[in-house]
Amino acid sequence: MTLLVYGAYGYTGELVAEEAVERGLDPVLAGRNAAELGRVGTRLDCETRAFSLDDDPATHLDDVDVALNCAGPFVDTAGPLASACLATGTDYLDITGELPVFESLAAHDADAADAGMALLPGVGFDVVPTDCLAAHLVDRLPSATHLALGFEPHGGLSPGTAATALRQIGDGGAVRRDGRVVSVPPAHRERRIDFGNGERTAVTFPWGDVSTAYHSTGVENVEVYVPVPANARRALRAVRHLGPVLDADPVNALLQRAVRRFVSGPDAEARASGRAFVWGEARNERTGETVVSRLVTPETYALTVDAATTAAQRALDGDAPVGFQTPSSAFGADFVLSLDGVERTDE
Ligand SMILES: NC(=O)c1ccc[n+]([C@@H]2O[C@H](COP(=O)([O-])OP(=O)(O)OC[C@H]3O[C@@H](n4cnc5c(N)ncnc54)[C@H](OP(=O)(O)O)[C@@H]3O)[C@@H](O)[C@H]2O)c1
Repeated sequence: MTLLVYGAYGYTGELVAEEAVERGLDPVLAGRNAAELGRVGTRLDCETRAFSLDDDPATHLDDVDVALNCAGPFVDTAGPLASACLATGTDYLDITGELPVFESLAAHDADAADAGMALLPGVGFDVVPTDCLAAHLVDRLPSATHLALGFEPHGGLSPGTAATALRQIGDGGAVRRDGRVVSVPPAHRERRIDFGNGERTAVTFPWGDVSTAYHSTGVENVEVYVPVPANARRALRAVRHLGPVLDADPVNALLQRAVRRFVSGPDAEARASGRAFVWGEARNERTGETVVSRLVTPETYALTVDAATTAAQRALDGDAPVGFQTPSSAFGADFVLSLDGVERTDE
């Protein structure tokens, strides 16, 4: 069985490639820059395949059983690589957290089932912990009509994550209402939440779970919250007016170049010592019944590397069901508990 890691010389892709080698998965490493790929391939002693996603990627996947895409922004890469995987019957996994990417892949559920392959985006910190928590909450309260999810990360940001966030900045916010993804202003709703590390003021955020929690649980109303300090909340609200300016191609490209230059990603020590707190609440609007659960996880990139590699390993073992999947629909609500250093508590 062959695993291909695309984007294997990016900050996260290289960590995933390293972990896959350590677990004996013997991955083929891929990406569009032959020189950068050669550097990682030599260091990890792996086969490499340099190809751009504009050049018929299916021709490079004939012998590949599972492709794990670590090249983001995924709004640029998920479509072409997932289409190539559909053509070759290769399981497609990625580490996106981008809401539009989940929604567009979900629309290919029937195609994936026909092709006998899994379309499984979001196998990183986005969205494994929150998605598994959503499924667990609905196991606890099957009549839930509303889900609120959120997380408080402690640790740094990688260049790709910063660039991906910038790409989405002009999109504003989003929540799910009555089964539909609805656009709302950034930081649309505010709430005090104890993510597991003391109460914080948190605001709504257009996280991938607005898409995936619905596909995992069928609950039609979903909001995702992140804690944000007062000055950042003011800045987010200012983006309501600046959004179109920041979204304009030349301005956004300039900002992306700047973050790639100045943001380097958490080092090994930060990844080893950081933690994240994940919170979720399921509520039945009619009866008022409410359940709350929490997770404590390792630092977000450490969790991403473990979750993505474990998901790829499960797919290689034939455990990933065909069709569009979320982490919890593929591997169950307890998948997150199979990862190193994750603990769950119920209230
Ligand atoms: N799920 C999660 O929790 C999670 C965790 C970590 C990261 N992420 C996401 O993963 C992505 C990568 O993050 P990172 O920090 O590793 O970024 P990074 O260091 O900037 O690496 C990005 C990689 O993607 C490649 N890439 C970008 N656009 C491409 C395209 N159109 N075609 C082919 N390759 C392309 C880059 O290649 P070039 O250098 O050739 O452009 C590079 O190899 C980001 O979108 C980030 O948000 C998600």
